[in-house]
Amino acid sequence: MSRRAPLVFIMAAGLGTRMKSDLPKVLHRIAGRPMLHWVVAAARAAGAGRVIAILGHKADTVKAALDASFGAGAVEVALQTEQRGTGHAVQCALPAVVDEADDRIVVILTGDAPLLASARIAELVAACEASPAGMALLSTVPPHPMPYGRLVRDAGGKLERIVEHPDATEEQRKIRDTNAGFYAIRLGDLRKDLATLRADNAKGELYLTDLVARAASRGGATAIDAPFTEVAGINDRVDLAAVEASARRRINEAWMRGGVTMIDPASTYIDAEVGPLGKDVWLAPNVALRGKTALGDGVRIDCGSVLTDVQVAEHVHVKPYSVLSDAVLGSRAEIGPFTHCRPGTRVDEDARLGNFVETKKTHLMAGAKANHLAYLGDASIGAKANIGAGTITCNYDGFQKYQTTIEAGAFIGSDSQLVAPVTVGRDSYVGSGTTVTKDVPRGALALTRVKQVNVEGWADRFRETNSMRKKSGDEH
Ligand code: UD1
Ligand code: CA
Repeated sequence: MSRRAPLVFIMAAGLGTRMKSDLPKVLHRIAGRPMLHWVVAAARAAGAGRVIAILGHKADTVKAALDASFGAGAVEVALQTEQRGTGHAVQCALPAVVDEADDRIVVILTGDAPLLASARIAELVAACEASPAGMALLSTVPPHPMPYGRLVRDAGGKLERIVEHPDATEEQRKIRDTNAGFYAIRLGDLRKDLATLRADNAKGELYLTDLVARAASRGGATAIDAPFTEVAGINDRVDLAAVEASARRRINEAWMRGGVTMIDPASTYIDAEVGPLGKDVWLAPNVALRGKTALGDGVRIDCGSVLTDVQVAEHVHVKPYSVLSDAVLGSRAEIGPFTHCRPGTRVDEDARLGNFVETKKTHLMAGAKANHLAYLGDASIGAKANIGAGTITCNYDGFQKYQTTIEAGAFIGSDSQLVAPVTVGRDSYVGSGTTVTKDVPRGALALTRVKQVNVEGWADRFRETNSMRKKSGDEH
């Protein structure tokens, strides 16, 4: 039987009060990606058809984040302006699917449980298809008592209903199987059963979980047990940190299995969108790879370096404590220790940036070097040029930024200032301590140094006079 892709609803209208945050809960990040985006990505990986996010609290902000990541309108939005419970949330999504057939399967997920695996969603759909009641859900046994809904079964083990924690008796609270909050249900049954919900319970809400009792009359919903770490929801920042740790472990294990060495996976921080990472990549402790960073084969990133949106070609070595953002590094480039590459930095193959060098919108061509103490901003630096210690591009006059061009093979002596806009010609020399304000022709030497004067014996005389003065002073 060929089945159409399931419809996916993601409930994300809640306030997230316990986060104590101005940011909607579902936009808090796990491994650099908003938790809601994890859920959308898992649904898509499981072959979802339409994905509809049910939003309420700060819906505009959440919609903007979804549009930015997935494309405008790719994730549809249904509004739940007043949060009257999970059953009410799903009711709010029904108008969006009026034209869909009754035999479509709807997967209902929550936006605050980011680690649900796509394979589990597929399992849920398959169980729903196989279920005479047309309903399946995920259950879990938490490692410690949680205020979750309890799965109540009859003597034969058939799922009778879910009783919410506030409504449960002491006896029912001893049930270890709890509702994880993920469901698959046939759209026809969903439409019919949602209309029967009533808020006659401890919280005065429409409980989605009451659908389980309706399914019992059709033979009973199927429960699939899932590990707690996969289905754990986030309610406060303690949960956020715990889920972050699980996500990081999962990400690191996948990369290690893919051929990446981590000296200490517990202190290696790789965001969800990072990759690919090549074979024999080597990561030291306290390395953070963020954004859309990608590393080629054999790249080594040493202790404490932070790379955000950096494209790194093979066999590059980033030495300790370097910070790079929005940069591109060519093969065998060497960076650090203590280098700061700001946005727009491009370092070609075999080029080197050493300690206390800062770059911004600067292109260092093949084999060029700036080994120590320099600021290179808005600059183009030709192949094999050598930038001495203390070189500064004076690129900003307080109003505008200007370009510095250093052509191939040029040698910039230490402690020079290049006052942009300016061009230093091919194979030329800039003498140490020069302030370059005019273009330097190809092959020339530029020098602005004041002529040196040596006064013979001056230092000896100076010391003698002053030490005598000091002595006579001490006697008073
Ligand atoms: C829910 C389940 C409970 C389960 C638990 C697992 C119900 C009635 N109870 O309880 O059985 O053990 O999840 O975590 O469903 N939401 C809306 N609109 C609303 C209310 C909630 O969009 O009006 C969203 C929330 O943003 C959240 C999700 O639905 O993403 C779950 O809501 P929440 O209030 O956290 O339900 P729980 O009390 O945790
Ligand atoms: Ca919850």
